[in-house]
Amino acid sequence: MFSKAYSATIQGIDGIIVSVEADVSDGLPLFDMVGLLNSEVKEARERVRIALKNSGYMLPAKRITVNLSPADIRKEGTVFDLPVAIAILAAFGHVLEENLINTLIIGELSLNGKVAKVNGVLPLVYSAMERGFKRCIVPKENAGEGAVVSGIKTYGVSSLKEAVTLLNDFKSKEPETIDIKNLFDNSYKEDDLDFSDVAGQFAVKRAIEIAVSGMHNILMIGPPGTGKTMLAKRIPTIMPKLTFEESMEISKIYSVAGLLDRQALITKRPFRSPHHTITSTALIGGGAIPKPGEISLAHLGVLFLDELAEFKKNTIEVLRQPLEEKVVNISRLNASFSYPAGFMLVSSINPCPCGYFPDRNKCNCSLNMVKRYLGKISKPLLDRFDICIETMQIDYKELQAKKKEESSAQIRKRIYGARQIQMERYKGQDIWFNSQLTPRRIKKYCILDEGVEDLLEQAFVKMNLSARAYHRILKVARTIADLDQSKKISKKHISEAICYRSLDAKYWGE
Ligand SMILES: Nc1ncnc2c1ncn2[C@@H]1O[C@H](COP(=O)(O)OP(=O)(O)O)[C@@H](O)[C@H]1O
Ligand SMILES: [Mg+2]
Ligand SMILES: [Zn+2]
Repeated sequence: MFSKAYSATIQGIDGIIVSVEADVSDGLPLFDMVGLLNSEVKEARERVRIALKNSGYMLPAKRITVNLSPADIRKEGTVFDLPVAIAILAAFGHVLEENLINTLIIGELSLNGKVAKVNGVLPLVYSAMERGFKRCIVPKENAGEGAVVSGIKTYGVSSLKEAVTLLNDFKSKEPETIDIKNLFDNSYKEDDLDFSDVAGQFAVKRAIEIAVSGMHNILMIGPPGTGKTMLAKRIPTIMPKLTFEESMEISKIYSVAGLLDRQALITKRPFRSPHHTITSTALIGGGAIPKPGEISLAHLGVLFLDELAEFKKNTIEVLRQPLEEKVVNISRLNASFSYPAGFMLVSSINPCPCGYFPDRNKCNCSLNMVKRYLGKISKPLLDRFDICIETMQIDYKELQAKKKEESSAQIRKRIYGARQIQMERYKGQDIWFNSQLTPRRIKKYCILDEGVEDLLEQAFVKMNLSARAYHRILKVARTIADLDQSKKISKKHISEAICYRSLDAKYWGE
């Protein structure tokens, strides 16, 4: 007696189909599981055995062998409990074999036969759909995640018994449905953060607008209480709203991380703000049972590192590679894969331990102390911020002014315009934003107006700029020109872009 069910395992944020074969033969009563298994899957054997018993299935004393294949991929997690139990039941004739074809089964079993929720349901169902599967059976609590994938039916079950009943008659239960439009419509209503909450700070708001337009990383430097954190938190509200495709991409990551809870899709731009005590593994991802880190949870949104100098130096240095490549590569003994990490890095930093440098009325920090403090940010990391901007104390009058500040929706509209231009320009290429321009592409796309070359050359010499800084200025100028709907980069675009580099010398210069 032999039967075969289908399940899937996660690799990165993709699903790989795994077949679960059960063979029942005469011989010494034994329950064996083979295939490349980690300890978790071995434990599955015990859970399955007891769950079968407690669900009322008295199996004859036979030799049972379960094989998970392909053998050469690492199978993580507890998702195989349910398919293993089902395959065994099918081998004993309790489940209609033909119904296992084109059916993906995932779920953890509790000892009492209940089906418990698992991580990664969304990408697993997605990969099954791509492979032409017709339906999937998942834990009830994860059913919403499956239902967002169109082209495949998702059934949520809460017990092994329920799964068996369903597999013997698919008409016994309706597939899960979800109103995706409703999810999106409701996502922004409860949003109470808005740029209009922030009084004044025009220069910073402008810099942020440019940064978001071209997905440039931005660093805010200034004394405590000047609104750095407040501004950063509002950045997702001026980013274009998520498209369905983007939402899917992000939701897969959250599904693998086990962070979807009962929410079936992430419909808002991510904003991740890890505490400065975070480990580098939690930041970039990985671990014994690999999980996406904060940089992947911030994919297509914002990673905010507040008070950057408080982070351990080697923690933030690991950001350099994913910042360039927009993915993070994880290597394992039997697997290597990557997590997406296309985030915008936003950071704040106080200029010194007390926070008030260079205001000598308030700051007593020695120059050495200042240097050591800011020195936490290495030159190569500093170079990855296209835009640096100072936040200034605003005066009481400005704070009390009844003047109506611009709303996030108004700013978002301009950003959308600049994004459209970039989308057109980079159509069919592997880049989307000005911040991704390579030196060769900069030559092609950053066309300067008459006389701008001279201005740039002067700045290059006077500010003693590195080649990297030079390229960053051009990329930012490209974005400023796009916001201005201008094909060529003019003097005012370049001058403004140069300003966003001038703090390097002020705070990090010799
Ligand atoms: N420009 C501003 N408009 C309105 N409130 C502000 C402004 N700047 C600061 N505040 C108020 O001061 C508080 C502290 O600001 P915060 O963003 O935490 O400063 P920082 O991060 O620079 O130390 C904010 O929560 C807000 O209530
Ligand atoms: Mg702060
Ligand atoms: Zn100080």
